[in-house]
Amino acid sequence: MDNATRLQYLDAMGIDVWMPRGEVSSEHATLPIEEVASMQSSDNMGWIALQKQVEECKQCILSNTRVQTVFGEGDINADWMLVGEAPSQNEGIEGKPFLGQAGFLLTEMLRAVGLKRSSVYITNVVKCSPPDNKDPKVAELMSCNGYLLRQITLLKPKIIVAVGRVAAHTLLGTKQPLSELRGVVHRVNDIPVVVVYHPAYLLRSLLEKRKAWQDLQLALKIYQEEK
Ligand code: URA
Repeated sequence: MDNATRLQYLDAMGIDVWMPRGEVSSEHATLPIEEVASMQSSDNMGWIALQKQVEECKQCILSNTRVQTVFGEGDINADWMLVGEAPSQNEGIEGKPFLGQAGFLLTEMLRAVGLKRSSVYITNVVKCSPPDNKDPKVAELMSCNGYLLRQITLLKPKIIVAVGRVAAHTLLGTKQPLSELRGVVHRVNDIPVVVVYHPAYLLRSLLEKRKAWQDLQLALKIYQEEK
């Protein structure tokens, strides 16, 4: 991979790249996920083949420590797709996304807008749990990018909810703060994307719960308008 492409990958993941003065190139552009993924090998796999590929994936070092991959769960005919960051260690043992307190709150947030958790499709940008529940690294995000894009293509959701900063930055190819990304409708492959605060953050910042409610109301409105 040449350096310009590498920088585009990093930028699309919302990762700051520190470079000596004078070396910053105009090619260091921000790219949304669909453009980054189109630079990766395109595939035409169905759900089963894709899940198998994820289970056997050894593209990054998370494969050395994972117990199970966490491909995603829910209705593969769902209109709603929720994309989080990465599974926790416990979720990596269970093989399911969004368990525990954050998962419980996410389920409650969905219920608040009339959605059953089983009626949506939930996945993460990274399919293996990072050790010690750390934020996923660039290489880990890059390795999983194509899997997420293929899931979006297969599901053809009517709306995508980016849950938290890492999901929003990865999907939208931006580094803007989450406070600026929420409250507006973005698009990936022409699918509307609404950004919400991560439930793990909401558990620590109860005052922001109201904003999360507003964000989900926005997602519901856009869904109803566009379905
Ligand atoms: N569990 C997940 O599956 N995703 C997150 O983003 C956080 C916890």
